[in-house]
Amino acid sequence: MTSQSVASPTTAPIVARGIRKHFPGNARPTLDGVNLTVEAGRVCALLGGNGAGKTTMVRILTTLTLPDEGTARVAGRDVVREATQVRASVGLVGQYAALDELLSARENLELFGRLSGLTRRSARDRAGELLETAGLADVGRRPVSAFSGGMRRRLDLATSLITTPGVLFIDEPTTGLDPEARHGLWASVRSLAAAGTTVLLTTQYLEEADALADDVVILREGAVIAQGTPDDLKKLVGEPRLVLRQPTLEDVYLHLHATAPEGASAS
Ligand SMILES: Nc1ncnc2c1ncn2[C@@H]1O[C@H](COP(=O)(O)OP(=O)(O)O)[C@@H](O)[C@H]1O
Ligand SMILES: [Mg+2]
Repeated sequence: MTSQSVASPTTAPIVARGIRKHFPGNARPTLDGVNLTVEAGRVCALLGGNGAGKTTMVRILTTLTLPDEGTARVAGRDVVREATQVRASVGLVGQYAALDELLSARENLELFGRLSGLTRRSARDRAGELLETAGLADVGRRPVSAFSGGMRRRLDLATSLITTPGVLFIDEPTTGLDPEARHGLWASVRSLAAAGTTVLLTTQYLEEADALADDVVILREGAVIAQGTPDDLKKLVGEPRLVLRQPTLEDVYLHLHATAPEGASAS
């Protein structure tokens, strides 16, 4: 009998081990042995620049892309051998969701609800709740074609929550949004987290990881180069007492590069 205080990794809603993916024709692998664990109810940010491999990792975890090597279990199921069951337990924001431009936000949500098997009445009730949570109750009757980028993303997020997935993946929720829209989305993600959903989101912004995530995993060129809480990571770049600005992802990158044990060129 063991008396571990840490939850066994196999019970975590997201567990990936040694994930490798090399797309044909590419000089180097997109993912090169990635390990990742997200415990129940946590929000994990997969942080990395353009081309780091974030979307590929999310696609593998949501069964849309097969890994070359490694294993991953999501919601307790193997993403390759039990893909159908995985799909039934996860939500993916912004990719499945095909909003109908001519329909109102409410109609879109009701349609998704009906497609997910809800009765007309439940779909209507659920749409109302989701509009409320997404901060879209006032504009619920407007056609989606009149929505701003931020409103669309919030509606995207809402559509993926029709049946409250246990595990939610959000690929770059706020890239390209203005600060106000970004904060609106952050609020939506926070209310999800408060409701206990396990979330893996990808982002290029340390600021966003800092605002939303319990845990951060930094990916560069397909490899995990650091992980920890946002505070852990900021300590890597030192902690001045009087800061005029937060350390940025660039600061962390530069620091990690400067302290890389080998292979880092000194030029
Ligand atoms: N379907 C694909 N076919 C070929 N190469 C791909 C494909 N998807 C991704 N890649 C390669 O993997 C790299 C990382 O892609 P991606 O996972 O989208 O990174 P990120 O989301 O972090 O920007 C890309 O720069 C590209 O070279
Ligand atoms: Mg991407």
